[in-house]
Amino acid sequence: MKQDLLKISDLSKEEIFGILQDAIAFSSHQKDWQFPQRKLIANLFFEPSTRTHYSFASAEHQLNCRVENFSAQGSSVEKGESLYDTVKTFESIGFDAVVIRHRQDEYFKELADIQIPIINAGDGKGNHPTQCLLDLLTIYQEFQTFEGIKLAVIGDIKHSRVAHSIQEAMNILGGKTRFGGPKEWMDTNAYEIDDLISWADAIMMLRIQHERHESTMNLSKEDYLIQYGLTKKRKEKMNKHAIILHPAPINRNVEIDTDLVECDQSRIFKQMRNGVLVRKAVLKRAFQYEF
Ligand code: CP
Repeated sequence: MKQDLLKISDLSKEEIFGILQDAIAFSSHQKDWQFPQRKLIANLFFEPSTRTHYSFASAEHQLNCRVENFSAQGSSVEKGESLYDTVKTFESIGFDAVVIRHRQDEYFKELADIQIPIINAGDGKGNHPTQCLLDLLTIYQEFQTFEGIKLAVIGDIKHSRVAHSIQEAMNILGGKTRFGGPKEWMDTNAYEIDDLISWADAIMMLRIQHERHESTMNLSKEDYLIQYGLTKKRKEKMNKHAIILHPAPINRNVEIDTDLVECDQSRIFKQMRNGVLVRKAVLKRAFQYEF
């Protein structure tokens, strides 16, 4: 049976730990593991992406897959072809799996009849399960547990698929998540930023999702940083053991002071490295291979 990955909440606690353990194995004693039979994978990105797209490509190449990177521009999408017909075409012409990012929330509901594995690389403001898994891996490497771990997510919560996915996962795993940011971008209880900073074991700063906003932000970038961002002054209030996360892309000096992006407590570029490991684990799971 094929194994899609559409939402983090589709995974049990055991399945999440299974993927994380495989990702850890890929960083240690299974560095060179590859599929016994070569796979042909299509990366279908209908929305912009750097990290997710190219870390999937890197993971696929490391697993000895053949990789095609689809661009909607120049494809029959421009002639009005539907998402279903596009994906059905990839299935029909011999692809073994598809990785999809799409602007539409839960686009995958249209793809229930597709027979090859579908890996969700982000749907609208809904889900981003592989981002969530790499965030979890980064937290787990730091604390060796999720039980009781306190995660603060700060910024544009309402439009963020990352915020919703990590909250669901932390609930499954026994961690605690609190949110903060401008009131108009909250779809749940909001906490004061300074209280969150001193409370948390891990602080995830989010990018402002301008592309999903109906109106423009009425704060300057400088004011946003002072009111809601991670400034050097706020960093002093962080627990000494606490880490800084950001799914990126980063708007330096908006949600985070540029000098903190690579500071001692930041794990932002480690998250990106972990993205390749997690995506290798997710691809391995898609075809149900054992090491
Ligand atoms: N974090 C993330 O999804 O980044 P990209 O949009 O560059 O893939």
